[in-house]
Amino acid sequence: MRPLPLKIFRWLCLLTALANAGGNAALYLVYEPVFAWLSVPQPADPFAFAATTGFSFTIGVLAFAIYLRPQESISALVGCALAKGLYAFVTLYMFVFADLHWFWLIFGVWDAVYTVIFLLFLAQLVKPDLTALNTTGIRMGSAKPRTNKALLLGFSLTKNVDKGLARVSQGLEAGGYEVTTEMAVPIESELFAWPLTVARFVRISVRAVLRRPAKIHRLSAKADDGYDLIVVASQTWLAGMSAVVEGIFEDPDNRGLFEGTDVASLTICRGLWRRTQAMTVDWVERSGGHMVAVRHALHVGREPFRFFSLMLYLVFGKVTRPRLFHRFWPKKYGLSDADLDELEVFGHALAVRDRLPPIEQSITGGNEHAL
Ligand SMILES: Cc1cc2nc3c(=O)[nH]c(=O)nc-3n(C[C@H](O)[C@H](O)[C@H](O)COP(=O)(O)O)c2cc1C
Repeated sequence: MRPLPLKIFRWLCLLTALANAGGNAALYLVYEPVFAWLSVPQPADPFAFAATTGFSFTIGVLAFAIYLRPQESISALVGCALAKGLYAFVTLYMFVFADLHWFWLIFGVWDAVYTVIFLLFLAQLVKPDLTALNTTGIRMGSAKPRTNKALLLGFSLTKNVDKGLARVSQGLEAGGYEVTTEMAVPIESELFAWPLTVARFVRISVRAVLRRPAKIHRLSAKADDGYDLIVVASQTWLAGMSAVVEGIFEDPDNRGLFEGTDVASLTICRGLWRRTQAMTVDWVERSGGHMVAVRHALHVGREPFRFFSLMLYLVFGKVTRPRLFHRFWPKKYGLSDADLDELEVFGHALAVRDRLPPIEQSITGGNEHAL
């Protein structure tokens, strides 16, 4: 799946700019008869209502500024995402716990959707090279001499990363590589263990929200093992990299592995791959790795059934298909056979990737040209 083009995000910004700025101005002018018509209680405090409408109007103006100059509006985008997230949260909270009229729920849902849109837009703007990496094939490898040895790193709770890496490995081997696969072993092995219990699922999820990485046992792979390629695979946990894979990078001893080495990132998840990928690339780049490719592979099925099927899988530890939704429910948990085949092709493409000319050669080439 390709990332959404920036143009679409810009148009979505314009849409909410019109809805927020135009909609709030119009609502403020006619809210009394409209509320009476829809049986929405009139605001208890007209000044507070004016302030809220005015604030929402301002968000619309900011959204318009983002539409005009997205590259220069990163802070505005962060502000808008936070404001919309806050609005959505308060509205949904009041609807559930304080008997808020359904009319306001429309605004809450709109704001919740836009929180996600703004965050996705932000992810694209702050890492434009990721869009390029996702749309081009394999980039040229570094000039470092090839050893044809690859290290595959990851962690797997429910075995999808395992299966994905196994197929990448087959592709690499077919391309002449000797492959070592090392799965990170968390120190809290009783917490990150399959099958999950509801309590452990909640603990892992809360820690994932707080982005608390998990400490892992020392890897056996060493920087001087001579790998010319590393494939690092992470699943998504709560819209980001899994704590255990992040634990690989958290340990400074492991960062040397990546220094000057070609690295490919693989994200495997139900659907939210972008932030996980951005985080992985960020870690690799901070560790001095040379990114050559990114890939993501998503579970089979369509939303929202894919989401609910994942939840049931995590709770019951097996595929459960409610009879009522049989037609729509994903038939399996994890990646399709076609996606696994593609990962093998990906492995092969990595094995035969081009290499930048060595520095001496490019200098000589440059001189010859000059002469
Ligand atoms: C605690 C937890 C949280 C998850 N959160 C997300 C999520 O936010 N977005 C998503 O797309 N997938 C999410 N998933 C699904 C996993 O990314 C997906 O099942 C992946 O295939 C797991 O890889 P594994 O089978 O190798 O462990 C979550 C899974 C778990 C266990």
